[in-house]
Amino acid sequence: IEECRKILKEEIKTFPDWPEKGVNFKDVQSILFNPELALVTSHYLQELLPKKDSNSFLFNKILCFDARGFLFGFDLAKASNTPMILARKHGKLPGEVVTQTFEKEYGLDEIQVQAGLINPGDKVLIHDDLLATGGTAGAAAEIILKCGAEIAGFNFIMDLSFLPGRKVLQKYVHDSKIQALLKF
Ligand code: PRP
Repeated sequence: IEECRKILKEEIKTFPDWPEKGVNFKDVQSILFNPELALVTSHYLQELLPKKDSNSFLFNKILCFDARGFLFGFDLAKASNTPMILARKHGKLPGEVVTQTFEKEYGLDEIQVQAGLINPGDKVLIHDDLLATGGTAGAAAEIILKCGAEIAGFNFIMDLSFLPGRKVLQKYVHDSKIQALLKF
């Protein structure tokens, strides 16, 4: 895993001042463009999933974010044999939806999940490519709570640890349940 972390650190391209000044954008495209690295990344993200024992997991659903959270989230859902839920930006989902507004690294946004997919008694794991201010993942946590379910933990490829994301998420779960493959 340390070798994987080292390679990811070298390979993930940073775009300074994008999409706005002061934001250093870490581009997951760098991983996808290298099939071997994408496989290894997927493998180690799976290793970070909260497990009860070697063949059962401590969550029964996985919630993934529009858009880059879908890329590896689908792998995690398959590997854990759990239903995958798409959390999408405003206006993309048909039918009744549960909505949460939140503040992001660059402005206000809104995420939605189709109603009825998350229910009381569920333990939902949240996956995204990146944790920055924690606005996005925090909004997912709020949606899960609104639906009466439990937050099983968070799983990210990258944690921008100089930003307060982890602190925000500690309101919802113990720090040990906030897992990231890579810290910047
Ligand atoms: C990025 C990233 C996370 C979010 C993290 O998404 O993919 O979803 O920001 O930031 P936060 O912790 O400050 O909320 P972006 O908004 O760029 O959307 P996209 O994946 O649709 O491009």
